[in-house]
Amino acid sequence: MRAFLIGFGFTVIALSAPAAAAEKAHLSVDASRAGAKIDRNIFGQFAEHLGQGIYEGIWVGPDSAIPNTRGIRNDVVAALRALKVPNVRWPGGCFADDYHWQKGVGSQRVVTLNPNWGGVVEPNAFGTDEFMDFLDQIGSDAYVSINVGSGTPREAAEWLEYMTAAEPTTLAQDRARNGHRAPYTIGFLGIGNESWACGGNMTADYYLDQLKIYTRFVRNFNPAQEGDRHMLKIAVGPGDGTTEWTETIMKAWQKHDWSWDFDGLSIHNYTVPHWPPSFASAEFGVSEYSQILKTTLAMEDLVKRQSAVMDKYDPQKKVALAVDEWGAWYAPLPGTNPAFLVQQNSLRDAILASLNLNIFARHADRVRMANIAQMINVLQAMIMTDKEKMLLTPTYYAFKMYVPFQDAAFVPVAFDAGTYTHGDTSLPRLDAIAAKDKSGKLWLEITNLDPDQPADIEASLAGFTAKSAAGETLTAPAVDSVNTFAAPGTVVPKPVPVEVKSGKLALRVAPKSVTVVSLEP
Ligand code: AHR
Repeated sequence: MRAFLIGFGFTVIALSAPAAAAEKAHLSVDASRAGAKIDRNIFGQFAEHLGQGIYEGIWVGPDSAIPNTRGIRNDVVAALRALKVPNVRWPGGCFADDYHWQKGVGSQRVVTLNPNWGGVVEPNAFGTDEFMDFLDQIGSDAYVSINVGSGTPREAAEWLEYMTAAEPTTLAQDRARNGHRAPYTIGFLGIGNESWACGGNMTADYYLDQLKIYTRFVRNFNPAQEGDRHMLKIAVGPGDGTTEWTETIMKAWQKHDWSWDFDGLSIHNYTVPHWPPSFASAEFGVSEYSQILKTTLAMEDLVKRQSAVMDKYDPQKKVALAVDEWGAWYAPLPGTNPAFLVQQNSLRDAILASLNLNIFARHADRVRMANIAQMINVLQAMIMTDKEKMLLTPTYYAFKMYVPFQDAAFVPVAFDAGTYTHGDTSLPRLDAIAAKDKSGKLWLEITNLDPDQPADIEASLAGFTAKSAAGETLTAPAVDSVNTFAAPGTVVPKPVPVEVKSGKLALRVAPKSVTVVSLEP
């Protein structure tokens, strides 16, 4: 077969050129065994009323000099549209169990405080209708977390009636008066948040009783949401690696009747080697890079352990595992309010994101939802803002590169990952996943964790004849390279030369990089 050399019009480098100190790796991609769908909802986001996640990050108000549509900043909307964000979890987090929705609707907003996150003033200017407008603008589904900790089933039931009733109930009329006659669609409903800690410090048994009450009485009235489009209810799962909580909830679920039910069980898992978070998010070296990546890879075991318990009570995998808070949690950036959880975002975070997304994809039959924490200005953010300025982070670009994997069918890839060692930390040198999209294209992602050595990849493609290929790589000069307002293009994806020859794909992946290759049938 003729060799195809594709490089987005850039000069193509012959792949047989001498590869100084490059490792060699063989991947066996078996496209004939396309499996579970990689649910697009694993690329979900999380936006909490915390620091400048909502206020400034999304909401600037209609009178702001920052270009906006009905108070929502246009630059952020445009950036998020490109990510095809499948769902946004809101209003928290810990904030959710302190949130009283009535204070955030209508023309008279109630000004309160945000006791979880620095005790700052919460103007309630961004409430239900603004959130729904934001989702509409970015083209995303709602994942609403209801208040189980300090709210009541009645308050939550009325919130759902406000959002979803099609009939002219008083609450539906309030909604119409507030600018939205048609009922909203709610993709996901979170029944509390971290109910074992900030959500009320409940035992699993106590939470289970609450879960039964809330899933019974908090109803979605939108007639368009029956059948396949029904609102998925997500129960709170464990907050650590133990399995007792999951046992309690799943055991009860196995015997549930018509009167209560849920569709997903959440887990939260931050990449943080020790609490309180002490690792710096900027200006670190290979040692911290290696330790953080080692820590993040523990997600695999966590998912396996929780899935094993779920398999026991739900072998048909009806209940999804929803990793609805994940990401790196570092020490607060010096000079910022520590309660605002501001951190830098580096190439390390893009690699960390790809490793986690690959773990979720490998468990696509069970992990059908995940939400990185958080979307803007908080923790491992996609976007950072400074008043009118906006910056796209390395994590943003990693998510952008993964867009083609949304709802694509998982394709197995076998490879010897090799080992990279720094001091007493050992990591797999490589990671990879593949998927086939609805148009028949094959997509391959390769992460090179090794900060020093490139890798020469040769991939055999069983069950797929590639006519052409193209690739993009995200890398940068150093593991701690960041994008700044002054230099926003330091860590951005660039085309990478790839070759298809005799049915095999060949490319060189740079050290410390995330690479995505598309193959046309
Ligand atoms: O994402 C920040 C906080 O982390 C969330 O509010 C809480 O759910 C978790 O502990």
